[in-house]
Amino acid sequence: MKILFVASEGLPFSKTGGLADVMEALPRSLVALGHRVAVLLPRYRNTNAVAVAAPSLTIAFGNTLRFPAIIDGGSLRRVRYYFVEDPEYFDREQLYGVAGKDYPDNAERFAEFCRAAIEFSKNVWKPDVIHCHDWQSALVPVLLRTQYANDVAAQRVPVIFTIHNMGYHGLFPREVLKKIGAPETLFRVGAMEFFGKVNFLKGALNFSDYLTTVSRKYAEEIQTAEYGHGLDGVVRDRADRLVGILNGVDYAAWSPAKDKLIAAKYSPKDLSGKLACKKNLLEVFGLPPEAVNRPLIGIVSRFADQKGFDLIAEVAPDLLTEDVAIVALGAGEPKYEKMFHELAELYPEKMSVKVAYDNTLAHKVEAGADMFLMPSRYEPCGLNQIYSLKYGTVPVVRATGGLDDTIEPFDPGTGRGTGFKFQAYDGAALLGAIRQALDVYRNGAAWRRVQANGMAKDFSWRASAIEYARLYEVAWKSRNRKDAVTSN
Ligand code: ADP
Ligand code: GLC
Repeated sequence: MKILFVASEGLPFSKTGGLADVMEALPRSLVALGHRVAVLLPRYRNTNAVAVAAPSLTIAFGNTLRFPAIIDGGSLRRVRYYFVEDPEYFDREQLYGVAGKDYPDNAERFAEFCRAAIEFSKNVWKPDVIHCHDWQSALVPVLLRTQYANDVAAQRVPVIFTIHNMGYHGLFPREVLKKIGAPETLFRVGAMEFFGKVNFLKGALNFSDYLTTVSRKYAEEIQTAEYGHGLDGVVRDRADRLVGILNGVDYAAWSPAKDKLIAAKYSPKDLSGKLACKKNLLEVFGLPPEAVNRPLIGIVSRFADQKGFDLIAEVAPDLLTEDVAIVALGAGEPKYEKMFHELAELYPEKMSVKVAYDNTLAHKVEAGADMFLMPSRYEPCGLNQIYSLKYGTVPVVRATGGLDDTIEPFDPGTGRGTGFKFQAYDGAALLGAIRQALDVYRNGAAWRRVQANGMAKDFSWRASAIEYARLYEVAWKSRNRKDAVTSN
């Protein structure tokens, strides 16, 4: 099949979070299964490209026209890359905003991107299936099934939409519809209207042929008021078209036996390199070398409400009286940057933070820490806990979404399990799980067991790619049967 991926970020070109990892690894796995895949991304600053594929598309945008170009990024590992180029919109310092604040014209930026994606799929690279990701690509299904509803070619192309995060809606004032040249009729409850505003994500939930999300547990959770961010009713209405498919890991990039970014390589047979990685990590984070004898807790994360850092603030005074050290790498909301800085000042011997986005450091934390902490309020999949397993860095996680699906609680009695989990979103529960982990850590043999259990796990992409391929097939057939319903 010919599959077009449309997304707002993707490695090796652009990244703020796990979406970018998925955009690199899933297309590769589909290619390995014999499919043809192209990935369409915005051309942000510093994206090198090969050639122009379409010098200028004409995009009707309310009262104006815009003329983005399509740039050919060539092939990487047999995946085709194309970019939507419009420097005024995309040649900026960051992808979505600066200092925790979104760019004010994000609706226009990503509406143009989606319109360009549709034109691209009609004129440049004609796919059998379009696979969109998160709200930035949501207008693709919406416009295909409304403005393009009578386009015979478009009618035959199903759209799969993956929810990587229900917390980000793309919520804008009503006037935005006119600005981006979208029909006013979309401003209704069954389309994009959401409490008096326009909700891009809601549009995709209503107009896509199939919805997926990135773990089974999260597929259930988003149908509840607690995790639905106000859209649980819409998801429930489409439950027969929703599947949870777990993300995989690119072990070529995330494996201690091959990782070139860490101080020393190691494998389950010989963990001695991990100690060298721990020493190096303490040094890089400016913690005293004696801390090597303490259990070291690592954090790598976007600093966002989703990730549960208010719980860390709550338990920090208790946690830091324990014999532990903590290193945190992240960037995002200023309030969490401040919180981590304050803790590091209060406990300079035990706690250190680096406010940065730094891939090499992320690898060093995975390798050098003993435990990896993810107390997320919600977590659609989560990749870092899965990376941690391979590095023998034992995850301590809240039992939500993909964290719950990928981590099995360790039972010292049977010796089974890969990490430590807590249920309730409160500080006591978090502290309980960390203390459980610290107890097992002090019993060296049990700790080596939980590490080995995790390192033996295999979350490679192939199985998930096969599930996506099956879904593409089903979606394509339902649009291309002779008696197929051709509009929405
Ligand atoms: P999310 O997509 O919600 O941020 P994931 O766990 O799915 O969470 O993916 C996060 C990805 O981003 C991982 O690859 C992680 O290593 C990376 N990452 C997050 N924060 C940083 C950072 N400050 N520096 C480097 N990499 C980071
Ligand atoms: C989102 C989620 C994260 C998931 C990633 C990739 O950003 O927050 O849990 O792993 O997307 O699907």
